[in-house]
Amino acid sequence: MPENKVCAVILAAGQGTRMKSSLPKVLHKVGGRAMICHLLATVDSLDAEKAVVVVGPHMETVSDAVKPHKTVVQHKQQGTGDAVKAAREEIKDFKGSVLVLYGDTPLVKKETLEEMIRLRENGSAVVVLGFEPTDPGRYGRLIVNGSVLEKIVEFKDASQEEKAVRLCNSGVMCIEAQRLSGWLDRLTNDNAAGEYYLTDLVALARQDGCQTGFVIGSQEEMAGANSRADLAMIEKIFQSRMREKFLDQGVTMTDPETVYFSYDTVLGKDITIEPSVIFETGCVVEDNVEIKGFCHFEGTHIRSGAKVGPFARLRPGADIGRDCHIGDFVEIKNSTIENGAKVNHLSYIGDARVGEKTNIGAGTITCNYDGYFKSRTEIGAGAFIGSDTVIVAPCTIGDGAMTAAGSVITKNVEANAMAVSRTKQTALSGWAEKFREQKKALKEKLSK
Ligand code: UD1
Ligand code: CA
Repeated sequence: MPENKVCAVILAAGQGTRMKSSLPKVLHKVGGRAMICHLLATVDSLDAEKAVVVVGPHMETVSDAVKPHKTVVQHKQQGTGDAVKAAREEIKDFKGSVLVLYGDTPLVKKETLEEMIRLRENGSAVVVLGFEPTDPGRYGRLIVNGSVLEKIVEFKDASQEEKAVRLCNSGVMCIEAQRLSGWLDRLTNDNAAGEYYLTDLVALARQDGCQTGFVIGSQEEMAGANSRADLAMIEKIFQSRMREKFLDQGVTMTDPETVYFSYDTVLGKDITIEPSVIFETGCVVEDNVEIKGFCHFEGTHIRSGAKVGPFARLRPGADIGRDCHIGDFVEIKNSTIENGAKVNHLSYIGDARVGEKTNIGAGTITCNYDGYFKSRTEIGAGAFIGSDTVIVAPCTIGDGAMTAAGSVITKNVEANAMAVSRTKQTALSGWAEKFREQKKALKEKLSK
């Protein structure tokens, strides 16, 4: 690999009116992460020296989201060339390749960018990423001759003949840093849009006798978000990439199309995932876990050998130990379920610790919130919590203790004790039979 000094400039000054949102476009999420942060992660994976994000006025939310990366403000949007000018101060002493990316085109692959950088380092002053969309529409066209990129013509300025060209400009460019500033000075806005086109750099480089090249990427990578429909399309592509990655890695999914991941989902191998499972951010699943259908996870760690679902809802801070069973209609939040414990049916466990091999009976509820404060429940190892136990926190139940089904536990339970908190059962002999006879007689009398 040749010396790989890269500095990225990411254009994100457009508000994205077609998104019909008060949120700047690049902050809309794909796979649980803002689009701009996807790009920054890709740039970071290239070991770029620096990334500068060009934002519009009043886009502090974008500046905050991209920290510690730097932002510069382009005060008036006068075109892509003008946007790069706004970043000039930040890149002026830089030697190497300047990579220009668009904040609303988050799926560009690292490998594609590496190919562009390689071509640049092998002697091209400007390298452009082209693609051949099904519908070339209003994209700028790459006018090429063999492997040489002669110029880019914007759709608005193109002749009929040029409009017929199918190779389009994605907007991604890799430019020799030391020449960039001089070329930016020479850009004019003498064109159909009255904008400073970054694409004119190609013609300027050719005038100066520099080599200019191009790389062709897939249409998928170039998907840009101009509307919510585009955003949904990008999400779709992102999800299919994630599914492919996990299938490849040794995860079984019976219906992959119905399983949704976040950008940071971590899965081990020999995991089985049934249909309709959603992973929100912050989830880690270790090897040999079985996940049944219709589960929803967020901020959750599931350790090896566990069986979860169907219909389990694991919320932030749920830490499910090795070989645990978490069954249907169980919600767990901010709780550690230690190795081999079982919470099999219809329970809510919040702000709790459930000790090793403890069994939580059906319908058990930890009352962790009194409307003002959250309180913890501690349940020891080897305990047996009877069905429909309500534990009013704060409360500690010792190792090996039991609670009787239907109990409301308000006091601590010592180890190996049996806690019973319910009224004593009485049975009235023959009562039911007598009741039925009376009612039947009454009904007959009234119907006469
Ligand atoms: C640009 C390209 C076109 C290419 C297309 C791909 C130019 C002149 N044209 O066209 O060849 O086919 O992208 O989508 O470069 N931006 C700023 N400040 C500005 C203008 C734009 O930050 O003053 C940002 C936008 O937020 C966006 C990106 O640059 O992220 C592209 O801008 P956009 O207006 O969509 O470019 P196009 O005119 O569509
Ligand atoms: Ca665009």
